[in-house]
Amino acid sequence: MSLKGKKILLCVSGGIAVFKAAALTSKLYQTGAEVKVLMTKSATEFVTPLTFQTLSRNDIYKDTFEEKDPTSVAHIDVADWADLVLIAPATANIIGKFANGIADDMMSTTLLATEAPVWVAPAMNVHMYDHPAVKKNMDVLRSFGCHFLEPGEGLLACGYVGKGRMAEPEDILETLETYFKEDTNDLAGKKVVVTAGPTREPVDPVRYFTNYSSGKMGFALAEQAASRGADVTLVAGPVSLPTPQGVNRIDVVTAEEMFTSVLNEAETADIVIKAAAVADYRPATVSSEKVKKSDDEMMIEMERTKDILWTLGQQKKNQILVGFAAESERLDEYAQKKLVKKNLDLICANNIKAEGAGFDKDTNVMTLLHRDGERVELPLQSKHDAANRILDEVKRLDVTRS
Ligand code: CTP
Repeated sequence: MSLKGKKILLCVSGGIAVFKAAALTSKLYQTGAEVKVLMTKSATEFVTPLTFQTLSRNDIYKDTFEEKDPTSVAHIDVADWADLVLIAPATANIIGKFANGIADDMMSTTLLATEAPVWVAPAMNVHMYDHPAVKKNMDVLRSFGCHFLEPGEGLLACGYVGKGRMAEPEDILETLETYFKEDTNDLAGKKVVVTAGPTREPVDPVRYFTNYSSGKMGFALAEQAASRGADVTLVAGPVSLPTPQGVNRIDVVTAEEMFTSVLNEAETADIVIKAAAVADYRPATVSSEKVKKSDDEMMIEMERTKDILWTLGQQKKNQILVGFAAESERLDEYAQKKLVKKNLDLICANNIKAEGAGFDKDTNVMTLLHRDGERVELPLQSKHDAANRILDEVKRLDVTRS
């Protein structure tokens, strides 16, 4: 079973479908998943926590202030613990709170704190489900990368007939199994080259030109691609980050070294993702001795480095080429120009002035521009989640090609 060993946090909000969540807990447990259940206060009015505790063989979370373990903060701890968060049933209320960033109880707080993929199984009255407010909130959650388990149609507990019945536990299980299967291996058999970090262009033995790139975005991409089964080579500029598991790392310092390594690796690659902030200029001459100061002003003549991505774009055959554009203004226009000039398939553009974006942050806000004009907005999210969304787009390109 593909759910064996998976850590599932089941968030049960209050609606009549809570009874189905009890069956779901039991089925998840039986497939070998480790299940922890988090209930809203109203969910506990429908089915007692004891039922879920017995079925999940775990303590139930229900109160932000009920801190059982003094060494940790429960809602952060359980948010970090989960491989997947499943909200079932998801009421209009929790959907609305989550979409709008409201964190006023244990469940809503945990949902904002988790970096795990979130699946939502709505359950409500048909008119509520059709209400523009609920639809809008669900769209917002989709734009955050949440997945939805569509409710079924039929006779609802409120007496109406229509859409709003929580998806059946068996179907939820099947969908999650497929998700984990695909999720873990959808890039298997693909060689992915990722570049990360800045480059360093020496002036003399003690000085160099560089930029603020931390390498975090490129390392997140390498890590996620490897966890999705790809054969990953990471060409890294000088950064102090640990090598992600299963990734083959080549360290380089200058743009010229990165050029040589990337071109060499790219020959056999299916996908090249250039997240590195490569220096566009370098000192025209590098002194072998330390340059001594004088009383005069100093001029350093700079020459262009080779554009690695442009070179790859010229020689590419069936490869998928992904570039990055860090801009402080006219994001779409500048990114689009780079996409065309460098013959890319996708460009990941970010406004370095946006809140939560930019160098050395753990989060990013990006716009992905496809060659065919499609535009995908990635709202503020962790660089790991953003990396996964970029890889989803790359995977989509790969599928359409083959
Ligand atoms: N890039 C590259 N080789 C270079 C310079 C950049 O491969 N010598 C790649 C980067 O890895 C990134 C993209 O090209 O994917 C960035 O494009 P670029 O036009 O170089 O951006 P900037 O350096 O920010 O340029 P500009 O100052 O024109 O905005």
